[in-house]
Amino acid sequence: MANHYKQISSLIYDFTKPPGTSIDGDLEFYKSQLLPIQGKVLEAGVGNGRLFIPLLKYKVDIVGIDKSQEMINICQKNLEKENLTGNLICQDLEEYREFEAYDYIIVPNATFNLLETRIKATKVLKNFYDSLKPQGTIIIDLILPIEFKAGSNHQYSHYIDDQTIVVKNLSKEINWIEQYSINQIDYYINEQLQESQEFKLSWYGCEEFCNILANIGFNDGVFIINYGNKRNLNVKTITFIFKKV
Ligand SMILES: C[S@@+](CC[C@H](N)C(=O)[O-])C[C@H]1O[C@@H](n2cnc3c(N)ncnc32)[C@H](O)[C@@H]1O
Repeated sequence: MANHYKQISSLIYDFTKPPGTSIDGDLEFYKSQLLPIQGKVLEAGVGNGRLFIPLLKYKVDIVGIDKSQEMINICQKNLEKENLTGNLICQDLEEYREFEAYDYIIVPNATFNLLETRIKATKVLKNFYDSLKPQGTIIIDLILPIEFKAGSNHQYSHYIDDQTIVVKNLSKEINWIEQYSINQIDYYINEQLQESQEFKLSWYGCEEFCNILANIGFNDGVFIINYGNKRNLNVKTITFIFKKV
């Protein structure tokens, strides 16, 4: 199973999280990490430009990569609306490596959890390592399935471009041994099923992920819970900040 943002799922992502939207304070967190910097940044899994566009406005020298052409097209349109030009690459992270090109690689909003297997995840981390300059930094957000309840259904409606799109999201399966969950998401227009997809989210224990990073060669790391927001008592997001040293 390959996780892929197609036409309607990309449209809904953009509608619900347009550029500039902060999720749990992540935009403020990334600004605090990246500003002011001189270096070159790669956003892995750039999506619709939710963070990429505000960071570009703050003059961050940033490149965005995404394997979904549908998302890249939306990001491009969002750039044009703002009269901005951005450097976007449509490619799978598994295949992308540019030797010592970046000072920072950021992977916000659970993109890393979307890598379907641990083999793929390791390959992507090795690519990140090679693509970072010496002393370069990775910042990766990982989420934990704290709200997942197998069998639960959620339904939402969105009115976009004169159409009502109904989204039915089924929490299908959770595998505590292999550490993944699967959601089935169906998109309907006029009661007709238009698009359907399964999303597999793989998750990692904190110590486990620190060890994975150390085995690749990353070092000098810290992790931050919920972007430093102590009012949220549940551990939802863990951000790993490690260096290539
Ligand atoms: C949850 S969205 C996050 C978008 C954006 N970073 C944000 O914070 O709003 C995840 C994005 O990662 C992309 N993605 C997932 N797996 C990928 C892979 N293997 N290679 C490149 N992009 C990937 C998806 O297409 C999607 O646009």
